[in-house]
Amino acid sequence: MERERERERELIKAMPSIILALLLTPSSLCCILLSNIYIYIYKRMVLQHCMHILPYYSNFASICQILPRLLTFVCFVLFDQFLLTISETNLEARATVTSGWLQEEMDLRKTRHGGFRFPSLPRAGYGEAQLSPTFYEEDCPNATSIVRAVIGEALQTDLRIAASLTRLFFHDCFVNGCDGSVLLDNSSTIDSEKGAFPNNNSARGFDVVDNIKTALETACPGIVSCADILAISAEASVSLSGGPSWTVLLGRRDSTTANRTAANEALPAPSFTLDELKASFAAVGLDTTDLVALSGAHTFGRAQCQFFSDRLYDFNSTGSPDPTLNSTYLETLSALCPESGNGSVLADLDPSTPDGFDADYFSNLQVHYGLLQSDQELFSTSGADTVDIVNSFSANQSAFFESFVISMNKMGNISLLTGTDGEIRLNCSKVNEDSYGSSATLIAEY
Ligand code: HEM
Repeated sequence: MERERERERELIKAMPSIILALLLTPSSLCCILLSNIYIYIYKRMVLQHCMHILPYYSNFASICQILPRLLTFVCFVLFDQFLLTISETNLEARATVTSGWLQEEMDLRKTRHGGFRFPSLPRAGYGEAQLSPTFYEEDCPNATSIVRAVIGEALQTDLRIAASLTRLFFHDCFVNGCDGSVLLDNSSTIDSEKGAFPNNNSARGFDVVDNIKTALETACPGIVSCADILAISAEASVSLSGGPSWTVLLGRRDSTTANRTAANEALPAPSFTLDELKASFAAVGLDTTDLVALSGAHTFGRAQCQFFSDRLYDFNSTGSPDPTLNSTYLETLSALCPESGNGSVLADLDPSTPDGFDADYFSNLQVHYGLLQSDQELFSTSGADTVDIVNSFSANQSAFFESFVISMNKMGNISLLTGTDGEIRLNCSKVNEDSYGSSATLIAEY
């Protein structure tokens, strides 16, 4: 059964070339035939009967020979273009009359590419934004609610999971775009980003992503990409935690590669200065407002002592704490993270409402309760343009939510794989070739 489907899929794939070949052969033969009739008529009628009145016989004769050939060439090109259009329409028409899964496949390709495309014709390129809020409307209408339900379930036993999933989306998008690459495990071809410094023993939620993928594969096999799962998860996590909800743009495809070096280089470090933070955001097309709004995600979740303990004891090799750290907060944190203590002990990123998504992160910064250096930099860097943004978000939660949504959508658009690029992974932690061999690659190519 699987084989049969595979063969049929191969047939669909080859269909454009077959039809093109069938149509082009008679078209070229017709053109050649017409051109020869044309030359014959010229020679017989024009040259034989009118030559006596033409002074420059030889020049005229060669024009008569060249002109029809030139016209044939032009006709041929125009006819080819016409046939390409006809073939596209035919294939779309075929898709609507074909039944069962075949129709679904054709419709799927139609919706993804905005029309059936021949392999040689232009298609969506790397980095072109082609997302749509209704991308799964036909093939997996419940995708969003399935994701939401699995996260809701996970939240019953792990309040932190919403924060962890939101962070995964950020760590995916900043490294070669939102392509699900952060989810890939090590293999012979994959140098997993999970091993990069910002992710190692830090990024979490992969098991929940796997549960989401399993639920989606049961409901609509081979349809929803892992990259889109991360995008939907981030929205569900934020809104389930009291933050804004928004329409997620969908249609990302999954990478077949990962890049650990890029993960080490592209993700900002907690000890970054404001200039360094701005530079790492600018490198992926995000501006200062995006930096402040997205940092607001530190309104929930945890951070390990190892990521801020330098601020408590030896800030910038001064042998003293970070002067921008509130003294009461310094005491609390020092008790939690003793100088040579366990670096993996967790502190709340937002001590006032640790699991709620709100604007408290910004009011914390105003009283020097930012946990990471990168947080406090936004407010405590003198003369910085970020100070006003922090103040406005602190004063107006709706303004923060609005900006956060805009910036999440911008981040979700970084260097996308769309159209026929990449694949729809069947297992988020493995490329299809590693999961099931080349037949899986073929199945999930659509
Ligand atoms: C501005 C630069 C940023 C830096 C330097 C930074 C750094 C960090 C660090 C060091 C942690 C703690 C990790 C650990 O202890 O294992 C963390 C946690 C977190 N980050 Fe960021 N981050 C930044 C931006 C963002 C953005 C843009 C988002 C999302 C839009 C985000 C979402 C989170 C969340 C939700 C957590 C808590 C995760 C959890 O509890 O599992 N961060 N971040």
